[in-house]
Amino acid sequence: MNNHINIIGVLTSGGDAPGMNAAIRAVTRAAISQGIRVKAIYRGYKGLIDGEIKEFSSQDVSGIIQRGGTIIKSARCTEFQTPEGRRKAYQTILKEQIDALIVIGGDGTFTGGRLFAQEYDIPVIGLPGTIDNDLWGTDATIGYDTSLSTITECIDKLRDTATSHERVFLVEVMGRYAGFLTLNAAIAGGCEAAIIPERASVKEQIEDAIGNGRRKSKNSSIVLVQEHAVEGGAATVAQMIEKVHPEYSTRVTVLGHLQRGGSPTAYDRILASRLGVAAIQALLDGQRNVMIGIQNDDIVLVPLSKAIHQKKDIKEDSWEALQTLSI
Ligand code: F6P
Repeated sequence: MNNHINIIGVLTSGGDAPGMNAAIRAVTRAAISQGIRVKAIYRGYKGLIDGEIKEFSSQDVSGIIQRGGTIIKSARCTEFQTPEGRRKAYQTILKEQIDALIVIGGDGTFTGGRLFAQEYDIPVIGLPGTIDNDLWGTDATIGYDTSLSTITECIDKLRDTATSHERVFLVEVMGRYAGFLTLNAAIAGGCEAAIIPERASVKEQIEDAIGNGRRKSKNSSIVLVQEHAVEGGAATVAQMIEKVHPEYSTRVTVLGHLQRGGSPTAYDRILASRLGVAAIQALLDGQRNVMIGIQNDDIVLVPLSKAIHQKKDIKEDSWEALQTLSI
């Protein structure tokens, strides 16, 4: 018995991310090694409301470190956003004798967890699990590295056909309201431009994108468009380009949910494992309502309120690198 934590609940919520399973495994095994029982909550906060719970042994998390998605399922639960939903969830906490919660997810997951912790005085520890990398206080989120690799692989394939047909490809990339995936995939894929919400006006960014193609006399180009940078996404940008340059042949590719799948990279597996173990240690140390993050390869504890509310900006040198290298 440590800080009165005998049983923890673990859940994954919001968009799934590669490496969530590695995090579940780490949390489960680290807890059991400390004599703490683990109850897996299925389908995120929905499962907490409905009491969809199964106690996990070490064996229950065998063979999952390499698997994408989440074995305990995920959901976006609007009911948990209501006081009544959270009241029902607390009934499950009492019934199952859960002393603390570990929530793996992104912004929405942490927002719900923090509110719940405040209302019912239950320790909540957040693990950053989202492909978007949009949480303040951590250099990386679980799933981001894998998603970045997936997008880069897709760009490489598109490059072949773009070059062969001398076309301009507009590729729509996920990221919610953040441009990390788009910008860094553009660097990795050697793209001509990235259109992201964090920089300049979209019109200027598109003009630059077209300019970049011209200056080098390129006969094809790949421009990444962050899903929320412009209303209508990549299709809108294609229309804008064709209006100015009817001679250009454009094609639109929306990568969609492909970006969330696949086996996690070694980086994501290691990150998830380290953060999961640190989450249990944090609970034993009496921590509550913090996200476990990574900064300069060190584990850090960040108040959930900061992780949610502070704005994480893209790196200026990355933006500059893309501009320099895409001419
Ligand atoms: O947060 C992860 C994410 O994939 C975002 O990049 C995207 O905007 C959103 O989830 C898509 O959500 P859904 O799977 O519910 O359509």
